[in-house]
Amino acid sequence: MKIAKRVLSADAPAYKLSAPLKAQLVSVERLSSPDSPDDLLHMVFDTCGARLEYVEGQSLGVITPGLRPDGKPHKLRLYSIASGPDGEGGQAGRAALCLKRVVESQADGGEFRGVCSNYLCDLKPGDFAELTGPTGKAFALPEDDTKNIIMVATGTGVAPFRSFLQYMYAPDRTWRGQTRLYFGARTRKELMYMNEMNSDILDFEGRGDFRARAALSREETNADGSRRYVQHRMLDDGEELWELMRDGRALVYQCGLKGMDHGVDETMGRLTRERGQDWAALKEEWKLAGLWNVEVY
Ligand code: FDA
Repeated sequence: MKIAKRVLSADAPAYKLSAPLKAQLVSVERLSSPDSPDDLLHMVFDTCGARLEYVEGQSLGVITPGLRPDGKPHKLRLYSIASGPDGEGGQAGRAALCLKRVVESQADGGEFRGVCSNYLCDLKPGDFAELTGPTGKAFALPEDDTKNIIMVATGTGVAPFRSFLQYMYAPDRTWRGQTRLYFGARTRKELMYMNEMNSDILDFEGRGDFRARAALSREETNADGSRRYVQHRMLDDGEELWELMRDGRALVYQCGLKGMDHGVDETMGRLTRERGQDWAALKEEWKLAGLWNVEVY
């Protein structure tokens, strides 16, 4: 049976490309350490009085101004909302995005700069951006707050989980199920919301039964000397994780860069095999029931 998830109220506005929401950037905070090569930003937008409602796990579309070299408008890019549904800082009409400026070196020595992420990251407080949405239904939390919640993130995939935690542990609420976050980053410098730059996620530890676990692929190694990714950190906690997940007790959410899901699948394959179960079949069952949720990009 499909699990009931939280949904947006029926009359919540949905902003479209033809009539987007004009939102003002009110603050920008760098989430990566000053000496990290990655520009990771926490950007807070204000709707200037327009109604914006969303549930945790939803995304906003961003319209990049201007045209592509072929004269067509830029494609819409989606960004996960990093604030809980009460709004950033508890202020309705405010939503934060967690941005990575995409800059990639090319084989010919040149540099590729992502269109929309660079447009956004170059904005200054006071500037306006055009937004669409909110969109996405599958990534919402269940209505049943006794469910265990396992969150697995790499990079900016941590954004929806900051939103989850703000909802689950709002001042007037404590999620009754157990909650875990597995977060993979290259080094502590890029461990967004969990380092000396900003500790919003770490600050939830000790609330209810939340625990955060990091895997730092360029700072830590496995026993065999290989790089340590998020799936390896999960495997360390295999016994406990299985107890939390078995028999449909948990909803698992993965968010981040494409490919991370393969590593998590390997870990799940191992955990299930050791217990005489078939991961492919169980994953299909959990997907259909809404227990296994993947958003990779
Ligand atoms: P452009 O489209 O010009 O080029 C794409 C290139 O960027 C590709 O090489 C791709 O591999 C790379 N790339 C895309 N996202 C990347 C990332 N996060 N890190 C490293 N490389 C990346 N992004 C984000 O920064 N924060 C977020 O919260 C989200 N959330 C989100 C939710 C959903 C549902 C989707 C489908 C996508 C996102 N994204 C995101 C990604 C975002 O929509 C967009 O793809 C990136 O910002 C890149 O867009 P550009 O226009 O800058 O690159």
